[in-house]
Amino acid sequence: MRLKIVAANWKMNTRIEEGIILAQKINNFVETYPLEGKRIVLCVPFTHITEAIKVVNYKYISIGAQNCAQWEKGAYTGEVSAEMIASTGAHYVIIGHSERRKYFGESDEVLKNKVNISLKNALRPIFCVGETLEEREKSLQYKVVKAQIENALFHLDEDFLLKVVIAYEPVWAIGTGVNATPEQAQEMHAYIRNVISEKYSEYIADSITILYGGSCNSTNAKDLFSQKDVDGGLIGGASLKADEFIEIIKCL
Ligand code: PGA
Repeated sequence: MRLKIVAANWKMNTRIEEGIILAQKINNFVETYPLEGKRIVLCVPFTHITEAIKVVNYKYISIGAQNCAQWEKGAYTGEVSAEMIASTGAHYVIIGHSERRKYFGESDEVLKNKVNISLKNALRPIFCVGETLEEREKSLQYKVVKAQIENALFHLDEDFLLKVVIAYEPVWAIGTGVNATPEQAQEMHAYIRNVISEKYSEYIADSITILYGGSCNSTNAKDLFSQKDVDGGLIGGASLKADEFIEIIKCL
């Protein structure tokens, strides 16, 4: 049985007091809701991690970061290391979000280092992949996603790969209000499993949690999550309102 996950990506939003109220509201709901085989992950700004951890029940909710440095430690002013994140008690870290690839020029090589360093520090990477609109229009989506996975994950041994959560986030769907259709998501998720199965095994491919992300909300989550190979979602904008995010959790 694959672990099902609804993960929030708060991005660069909320003052700390707003963030803590949001985390508290989600926690209050989750404590009264059956979540067996399911997990909620809140990927909050670095500044909020230690306070957010205090207000959630770790039995159901994990706290994650949205990035980590590619280096272990040292003279990298302004960077936050995987070890520092792990030392707060966080368990997840988003790696390779398209906004990091785009605005910070993070290459596959950099992301490979970040994946390695997270795993070394017992953080589970939520590794994001996805094509741009231009690439989809040229029917390059499979080629692009395959290369992203191969370049940053395929050096891992089976045990480490099993700790990685993959998030398929088509760039054209992020923050645009245009989500991938359930069929498009299912197609890509099945393809990703196939790519993993060819390199590793069917067992490994079947065991990996693959999330969908990109304009996922309480209206479309049920249809997306009910697809055979979609194990939940990575939610941006719709994770910033407690009521909306709770409705999404109910779709899992
Ligand atoms: P969105 O963002 O839900 O606002 O489209 C998803 C993400 O960027 O992870």
